[in-house]
Amino acid sequence: MIVRPAMVSACLIATIVAGAWAQGHRPYGLGRPATEEEIASLNHDAAPDGEGLPPGRGSVAQGQLIYQQQCTSCHGPRGEGVPPAYPALTGRDPKGEGFPFGRDPKIPRTIGNYWPYATTLFDYIRRAMPLTASGALTNDQVYAVTAYLLAADQVIPMTAVLDSAALVSLKMPYRDRFVPDNRRGGNDVK
Ligand code: HEC
Repeated sequence: MIVRPAMVSACLIATIVAGAWAQGHRPYGLGRPATEEEIASLNHDAAPDGEGLPPGRGSVAQGQLIYQQQCTSCHGPRGEGVPPAYPALTGRDPKGEGFPFGRDPKIPRTIGNYWPYATTLFDYIRRAMPLTASGALTNDQVYAVTAYLLAADQVIPMTAVLDSAALVSLKMPYRDRFVPDNRRGGNDVK
């Protein structure tokens, strides 16, 4: 049998990988198991019905301050966004009335004209924002900045204070435009 260099390298790589795999399923020797605290800090969800929302509360006025300090650099002073990278958060463009987003994808989708639940808005901000320091806001701060954005979108009054019960009872303006996706295929596809 003629042994080609490529065959030798392939065998060598296979031997190295198999050896490393045998040493505890960490073929590249990188990383470490996540600690309980690290998992707990990321393992939180708030469902549309409010399940999983933490205790806490915050006012529109408190949220405005947080927004100005931590959000304007990307989303603009009034939440108008900085296209194309940073989405608009506020604005009820009259073109959005009638919900024509499927026909005209260029219409900006904001919290006021597109977001179906206030509870998941809280969840999103808590888990992901501010982009460069996600997870850094306290629960009270997330309630407050959620309140500010909802007030800026004319969903709640400027004097409002939000907690978990208030978020659950709040009906977003276009919630009824969303239907549960219960398709199973075939004739069910709408
Ligand atoms: C460094 C830039 C940056 C900062 C600071 C920042 N964001 Fe964002 N934000 C983004 C980007 C980028 C997205 C879009 C992410 C995506 O679509 O995956 C986003 C998306 C969002 C969305 C979802 C918009 C939508 O309708 O899809 C919300 C709500 C939001 N940010 C709120 C905030 C709040 C509140 C703060 C301040 C506490 C904040 N952001 C700070 C960059 C930023």
